[in-house]
Amino acid sequence: MLLVSLSFLAVALLPFPVDGFPQSAAVAANGGGGGVASGIPNVTDAKNPVCVPWYGIRDAIMGSIFQGRCGDNARAAIRLAFHDAGTFSLALQANALPNGAADGSLLVDPNEVLRSENNGLQNIVSLLKPLPTQFGVSPGDLLHLAGVLAVLACPGGPVIPAYVGRNAPKNIAPTGLLPDPEQSVSVLLARFADMGFESREVMALIGAHTAGKQRFVDPAVANTSFDTTVQIWDTRFYTETANTTVDLPGTFKLDSDVNFATNPTTTQDFHGFIGNQDNWMSEYAAAHEKMSLLGFQANDLTDCSELLPLAIDLKNLAVATTGGGQAPTDPVIDPVKLEAAIQQFRSIWLVPQ
Ligand code: HEM
Repeated sequence: MLLVSLSFLAVALLPFPVDGFPQSAAVAANGGGGGVASGIPNVTDAKNPVCVPWYGIRDAIMGSIFQGRCGDNARAAIRLAFHDAGTFSLALQANALPNGAADGSLLVDPNEVLRSENNGLQNIVSLLKPLPTQFGVSPGDLLHLAGVLAVLACPGGPVIPAYVGRNAPKNIAPTGLLPDPEQSVSVLLARFADMGFESREVMALIGAHTAGKQRFVDPAVANTSFDTTVQIWDTRFYTETANTTVDLPGTFKLDSDVNFATNPTTTQDFHGFIGNQDNWMSEYAAAHEKMSLLGFQANDLTDCSELLPLAIDLKNLAVATTGGGQAPTDPVIDPVKLEAAIQQFRSIWLVPQ
């Protein structure tokens, strides 16, 4: 939590260039940071020797795969982190049965990614799959660092602690454990409870749909997004999903998300995140951290959060409003300021557009 707050503070204090943007740099893959103003830690400042190799892995993921942006690959990597970890079951664990976990099994067994519930993840799996062997690390560490970096690739996305040291997966993940949008709220909450999540944590986690698109629920309107600002990690997903009478152009509401917004068990927590970016960011970060550790203990792993770039704070990027009055629930983000922030804080990973 402290890490998250410090990151926001640091980003808030860093100035934007007065005129012009830093030039896009070639994609680094050696752990080189982008200088102090970029907020990207450099391997030469590494504190924990265990984390040193991970700076280059960070750059391979953030640069070559995400290109520093909240695009299709980053979006898919966030969902991949959930689909990898979300097969964990306390009930299976209690009965010593083959279990899922945040173990990267989706990068190992070719059959797991071919399951229908993993439709849309095949491309990100192909891109990440060679990296554990290439860098000599475990698939779980690689996949879950990618998930944490993907959230940071989305402006507004919080810093989530990043751990390394997970063992290789013991087995392919069991089937039938990932949620389906047509399941009832009680069935979905029971499945998340079996992963170890309380209802409020589920409402925080589901906000990841802020950066989501659908392709397979209704292929006739493939690529519609779950809110109107899919490239930004903001709370508009909550606002727009809760407004069940309006379907905004280009957007799509999953039945499960609408049910969470309206069901008496979850509606209060769901609505509580509307316009509440700071609370949501810290609760999301805590829930995602927990998700990235399912089946593992943080004490057995090494915290390599030191290599993470600073979060991009949306507060600095809102369109200036005139006069007094109440601040808008969903501040409009100025595209010029947004691009300037991406150019400054994700500099070394960008490629010319
Ligand atoms: C009740 C639980 C959930 C259900 C039923 C659900 C369902 C779905 C569905 C149906 C899609 C669209 C897939 C497609 O057609 O391409 C999707 C996309 C997505 N989901 Fe979820 N999801 C759930 C929870 C989560 C969680 C916990 C996370 C992350 C923490 C997450 C992250 C994403 C992301 C980022 C996408 C967009 C992927 C892309 O644009 O490529 N989801 N989800």
